Amino acid sequence: MTTTNLRLAEETIDASEARVTEDFIAFLEAASARRQPTGPVRRFNQGRAAGCVQAQFTVPDTLAPEHRVGLFKTPRTYDAWIRFANASSQSDREKDVRGMAIRLSEVPGENLTPGETRQDFVLNSHPVMVAANAGDFLELMKAMEAGGLQQARYFLAHPRSALIGLQARQQPTSHLDISYWSTTPYLFGAGRAVKYIARPCTPPKTTRPERITETYLTDSLRTRLRQADACFDFMIQLQTDPRRMPIEDATVEWKEREAPYHAVARIRIPQQAVGEADLGLRCEETAFNPWHSLVEHRPLGGMNRARRDIYHAMAEFRRQRRAQAPTD
Ligand code: HEM
Repeated sequence: MTTTNLRLAEETIDASEARVTEDFIAFLEAASARRQPTGPVRRFNQGRAAGCVQAQFTVPDTLAPEHRVGLFKTPRTYDAWIRFANASSQSDREKDVRGMAIRLSEVPGENLTPGETRQDFVLNSHPVMVAANAGDFLELMKAMEAGGLQQARYFLAHPRSALIGLQARQQPTSHLDISYWSTTPYLFGAGRAVKYIARPCTPPKTTRPERITETYLTDSLRTRLRQADACFDFMIQLQTDPRRMPIEDATVEWKEREAPYHAVARIRIPQQAVGEADLGLRCEETAFNPWHSLVEHRPLGGMNRARRDIYHAMAEFRRQRRAQAPTD
């Protein structure tokens, strides 16, 4: 099928996907074991958290009828748990993409993961991904892991990825001052697709520190939340054109002028002490997965299809390694 014949929210599944997913898991497990041969392993992506915070996610009673779908059908406040992290760097000093993973608990309704009652939203601080699909992303990650010539060769062959990579990496004042995008699409009831955006509901509040340290993002998260609440608008962007706003290419931005953002919830992060030891442990142990989701919001596109098994396998890998670690 050509892309011109596609309908809104329609997926195109490639025959190689199962093999790519298997290869991805094998690569991530081997590379994780190489990085950390014994003891607990960090997440391979987004391994360094600035912190996890408690929050509330409120669906208001003022939504337009066309936005009252699935989770957003009924006005309600959910308890939420949010993990902020660096995409690949272990030090805040490095420019990087930053992640915001949101978990809502006790969400009623049919979930895509059997027995699950949580709804996860996994977002990044740039509107597009550096690779179009899971196969390209695997190639890129292999090149990055090998470094040197292999990495240079990848970016020479994929100049668009190189450009996105450069644009995406930033040094924000705080995780609370920037916007986050799902970059990949999700169903929004039958026949409709959306991308998600979380945008701070107040102007940036943190001033740039005089010295950019290894931990300045963790420090600013702690300082800000010690002093006051923070908040984000949680928004959707409805796909309006299947060609210009593709489901299967995560490097294409859905432009706000063609598909405006609509706030469908408010995230309130109350004043709190971030970084207590027990919270830190829970932060490491939590396993987010975009497939912890109501059926009305099923992840769409090849990247998301691959993530279901990859995140599950890597969370299980991390769990097993924690279980093998000595307890004292
Ligand atoms: C094929 C595509 C992708 C692969 C293979 C992949 C791989 C991974 C892996 C292995 C983890 C760690 C999971 C764990 O150990 O629990 C992770 C976490 C994460 N990924 Fe992806 N990812 C993909 C696409 C994306 C996309 C499209 C986004 C977009 C926003 C994203 C954002 C994140 C974030 C924010 C986290 C951290 C979640 C947390 O705090 O636990 N990833 N990813």
